[in-house]
Amino acid sequence: MALAAEAKRVAAEFELTDNDIRKTVAEFVAEMAAGLAQDGTAMSQIPTYVTGVPNGTEKGLYLAVDLGGTNFRVCSIQLNGDTTFNLVQSKVAIPKELMVAKTAKELFAFLAKQIEVFLRTHHNDHFEKQLRRRQTVSTPEGYRDEHIFRLGFTFSFPVKQVGINRGNLIRWTKGFNIQDAVGKDVCQLLQEEIDLLKLPVKVAALVNDTVGTLMARSYTSPGKTSTLLGAIFGTGTNGAYVEKLSKITKSMKGDYDKSTGEMVVNTEWGSFDNGLKVLPNTEYDAQLDRDSVNPGIQMFEKRISGMFLGEILRIALVSIMKRPDVPLFRDDNSSHNDYRSTTTVDETSPLHTQWAVDSSILSIAEADNSVGLRALRQQIETSLGVSAASIDDARAVKEIAHAIAERAARLSGAAVAAIVIHTGRLNPGASSAPQPKSAAAIVEDLKNFNLAEAASATTNKLADTAGMAVNEEEIVDIGVDGSLVEFYPGYEDYMRAAMRAVPEIGAVGERKIRIGIAKDGSGVGAALIALVAAKMEQSNNYVGDLRQRLESVGESSEEQAIVVEK
Ligand code: BGC
Repeated sequence: MALAAEAKRVAAEFELTDNDIRKTVAEFVAEMAAGLAQDGTAMSQIPTYVTGVPNGTEKGLYLAVDLGGTNFRVCSIQLNGDTTFNLVQSKVAIPKELMVAKTAKELFAFLAKQIEVFLRTHHNDHFEKQLRRRQTVSTPEGYRDEHIFRLGFTFSFPVKQVGINRGNLIRWTKGFNIQDAVGKDVCQLLQEEIDLLKLPVKVAALVNDTVGTLMARSYTSPGKTSTLLGAIFGTGTNGAYVEKLSKITKSMKGDYDKSTGEMVVNTEWGSFDNGLKVLPNTEYDAQLDRDSVNPGIQMFEKRISGMFLGEILRIALVSIMKRPDVPLFRDDNSSHNDYRSTTTVDETSPLHTQWAVDSSILSIAEADNSVGLRALRQQIETSLGVSAASIDDARAVKEIAHAIAERAARLSGAAVAAIVIHTGRLNPGASSAPQPKSAAAIVEDLKNFNLAEAASATTNKLADTAGMAVNEEEIVDIGVDGSLVEFYPGYEDYMRAAMRAVPEIGAVGERKIRIGIAKDGSGVGAALIALVAAKMEQSNNYVGDLRQRLESVGESSEEQAIVVEK
């Protein structure tokens, strides 16, 4: 079979129709509702105890650390109180052996050590002063607690949170696997190692990266609209959104402030539809899952995020290479190559090794629209270990990579659509708007959806909305972060196309959804939550409405919130 035809056939296996998207959204809304009602559901819907979002006036200097993927970041953040911030950071790759260490201690001792190195490098004066203070005063009560560095811990794995700085690990994801840590309080694990090094640091807040992204976007986002959702499309994927307290009907152990009527919920949508009721499941997906450290878990994430897309591509390419009748990466195609004619797949090619193909090749393939696909062929050489790939080879890689990424983006769009629909945020002036529909009603509507009618309605609406200005109050603001959404060309456009296919959103609704990158969400967001936690400790009161309460923090922040003297 000709290579081009085979590439087309494989690419078609990744196609998701508009109808698939609608089914996905319906199931997503149903699983969101289930997760709010009880523990132990696939989508965990974890209450975060964060009951307000910031408005940009918050001030102070905080520490934040971020463990969530390939790197460990330590940073200090100066919140300037005018929606801006300054950030100093250091980043270190997490040694692979620590991701699968025997004991949690091995990993957390390494993290504490990095915090020490950061403090010595960037805040040495303050650090030394604190150490002296600790050494010369005999009782812990003797040194003033407010001079301890407050640290926000962004820990981007599913954690059952039981307070603003307490939470037990539910399971590892993204290739981490340290059984000893499962069920333990990750803040305590970190605090113990910090204390062993005698660092003047208190783990004040536990934050998922999506919650940090939501907070950071809210702090920096333009206009008066508060942010609804923070979402990550990077090594892993997940979203956290602002939920009505009345909808969280499962029991919540820790204390929290009820006055805002809201709480941020970490969906852990990576495990949406682990039962594969609606998700696509190609032979490549099935193989990836079978050979992963957590088969049957994180099934949504395994079709979306950067940790997995390169591996899906690898599996698909290898399956073609095994076919004697399809010439992929063989000399048959390269005889009319412009530079070399012998195509060689290196013995050590990443194509032969599980997880060895980096997802960045998908972005490069999408971005290269040149006639000779030079950049992509170069990348095939460096990332896939195939020298002198032919232009036909490159075209095949491009087509399959595109299909894998477009499917990921459309599924991402379905998740965003479901959150927007579930929260009823598209209705302007939320308080006066009609009550959002129940999950069951939304699911029913989506099932009864008439394709032909909707297609014409959508076309009409598209025409209607061309040039239509959206009022600031109508905007639904969403903060996103992660390598896929940031670097994959057109990722947001594919997400938006999926959202338009859902009748409850359509072309009109899609225009009201503003998606903005929230860079450094995990640092700034963690700092913001650490700020709230510090405030809470002082007043012995739980998280209040940041929008009101932090105005007063803003005013007296020089004294109250700046915990590191410059
Ligand atoms: C984790 C989430 C995290 C997401 C993005 C997932 O694997 O379960 O907690 O938010 O990755 O980093």
